[in-house]
Parts: sequence; C-alpha cells; structure tokens
Amino acid sequence: MKVLIDPERCQGHGRCYDLAPGLFVEDDEGYGLVAGDGGVAPEQEQAARLAVANCPERAIELVEG
Ligand code: F3S
Repeated sequence: MKVLIDPERCQGHGRCYDLAPGLFVEDDEGYGLVAGDGGVAPEQEQAARLAVANCPERAIELVEG
C-alpha cells in the first residue's frame, strides 16, 4: 500500500506528520509531504489509516500498490 497527499487539498494542519512521522514529513511551510516513495509497510498500516482519518481536509489517500 501507498499513501498519497493531494497538495491542492492540504492546508498544513500537520496531523499526518504528528501521528505518522514515519510516513509523512513537513515542508518548510508546514504542509505535509509523503516520506520517500510513500510505501506503507504492514506494521505502518494502522498509522496510515489514523492519518487518513485525522486529516481535516481529507487530503490523504491510502491506495493499493
Ligand atoms: Fe495537510 Fe492533512 Fe497533513 S491538511 S499537513 S495532509 S493532516
């Protein structure tokens, strides 16, 4: 699985990199970025779902692949 952030939707709320720092980082202005290639290891899946559920802008997607 992979996580994606829609940069058009992200408003920099920061929940993603607070809740799942292994999957997301922040840019210079506090907007969320996917760490590395966005790949989600099985043990990171719960954190990924937590981030998806907590982004107020619904900017994060969890996709197969
Ligand atoms: Fe952006 Fe949502 Fe993270 S608004 S910084 S993707 S919690």
